[in-house]
Amino acid sequence: MINHLTNPVFKTISEIVTEASTPAFVIGGFVRDAILGRPSKDIDIVVLGSGIDLAKKVAEHLSPKPTVSYFKNFGTAMIKYRDLEIEFVGARKESYRRDSRKPIVEDGTLDDDQKRRDFTINALAIQLNRENYGKLIDPFNGIQDMESKIIRTPLEPDTTFSDDPLRMMRAIRFATQLNFKIEEDTLKSIKRNAARISIVSAERIIDEVNKMVMSPKPSIGFMLLHTTGLLNEIFPEMDRLKGVDSHNGLKHKDNFYHTLQVLDNVAERSDNLWLRWAAILHDIAKPQTKKFVKGIGWSFHAHEFIGAKMVPGIFKRLKLPLNTEMKYVRKLVQLHLRPQALAKEVTDSAVRRLLFDAGDDVDDLMLLCEADITSKNEDRVRKHLSNFEKVREKLKEIEEKDQIRNFKPPISGELIMETFGLTPSKPVGEIKDYIKDAILDGIIGNNYEEAYELMIKRAKELGYDPV
Ligand code: CTP
Repeated sequence: MINHLTNPVFKTISEIVTEASTPAFVIGGFVRDAILGRPSKDIDIVVLGSGIDLAKKVAEHLSPKPTVSYFKNFGTAMIKYRDLEIEFVGARKESYRRDSRKPIVEDGTLDDDQKRRDFTINALAIQLNRENYGKLIDPFNGIQDMESKIIRTPLEPDTTFSDDPLRMMRAIRFATQLNFKIEEDTLKSIKRNAARISIVSAERIIDEVNKMVMSPKPSIGFMLLHTTGLLNEIFPEMDRLKGVDSHNGLKHKDNFYHTLQVLDNVAERSDNLWLRWAAILHDIAKPQTKKFVKGIGWSFHAHEFIGAKMVPGIFKRLKLPLNTEMKYVRKLVQLHLRPQALAKEVTDSAVRRLLFDAGDDVDDLMLLCEADITSKNEDRVRKHLSNFEKVREKLKEIEEKDQIRNFKPPISGELIMETFGLTPSKPVGEIKDYIKDAILDGIIGNNYEEAYELMIKRAKELGYDPV
């Protein structure tokens, strides 16, 4: 295992702990990632003694000397050195959690410490003392699980999960990131204990969800969240997408699987977390808008508007950011059918309106809409894609000609008020909108002169003359 300890900082720590005859180990995520070939900058050191004392000594030997931040109650200390974050902690008997609010109660052995970790692949330790430098301590066959791509708890899973129910989310998150399977008993235990997730804070939960969303194939995670019952606990609106209704043998598609495919499609093309969230939420209002309409079939009328209205509430509850990110997702959800509708008849004015409404997010919207084509019928897919290609070309052409993307009407409300001696009132907005619509519809050009002329004309119709 020595080849995983190439960073010189390990030698420094090794010398200090050898000198002091204190056993110390690199443990957890760093070891896991090193073996999996995923370089990591977070190093966790467990010491059979005081983590704080060791951190102070290590800091003395590094140059430039880093500051040590420590938390006495928890017996942990942290050093930021170059691009590394090194955490030192004394081996402990109770549940190991970096963000635990529980103070350390009792010191433990290395074995106690490893037992109290979440998964066998996260419980591997490599010794740092000279006599055993690089020796792997793997009491739960973590290496074997890594080779077989298995997530398994070191102890009986109910025990490990009751120490910290977030670990149920972590199991699914690691399965998604690493494309591992969750071992059967571990999975059964998650199903049994799913409701216990309610005692975990929304902030910790969403951290795990976002890591799943940012994985190469996020559907793996959401499938597992659904089958274990966790999705129903943490995000029931999404769980409700599942299911197919039938009317006289006519079925609609399962919106849960459809959403997951759209999400995977987006994930293949973009690593924008919020675009991925737009994929998750684009059809979120389908269950409540579902209707069978005679002669037409299944309809989800206005699901894009109702879905957009649901976005702020969902973001708030899940503790996702409520500013630009939420607004961006809400906008994409609301607009997600527009390019499709446009593809049927690509008029200049419809394209200008789409550019105006989507602004700088129009490219992301197009990507979402293309990802939304999940038909199994190849001809249909080809037809949709070629329609979208036309829309893209038209978008480019109109954008070059009219620059609508960041369109600001050439006539401001102030100018209207000044010209006609008006105070802020309804006619001001009406005149302004009239000019905006005329530009978007191509009736006048996007310039001051034509807009000014139209302003005078429209105001006259409404009974106002310049003062
Ligand atoms: N750990 C645990 N239970 C938790 C959280 C963490 O047992 N609920 C242990 C695991 O041994 C884990 C280590 O603490 O490997 C470090 O935790 P953390 O930094 O949160 O996660 P990593 O495993 O390093 O993974 P990542 O960096 O991808 O979050």
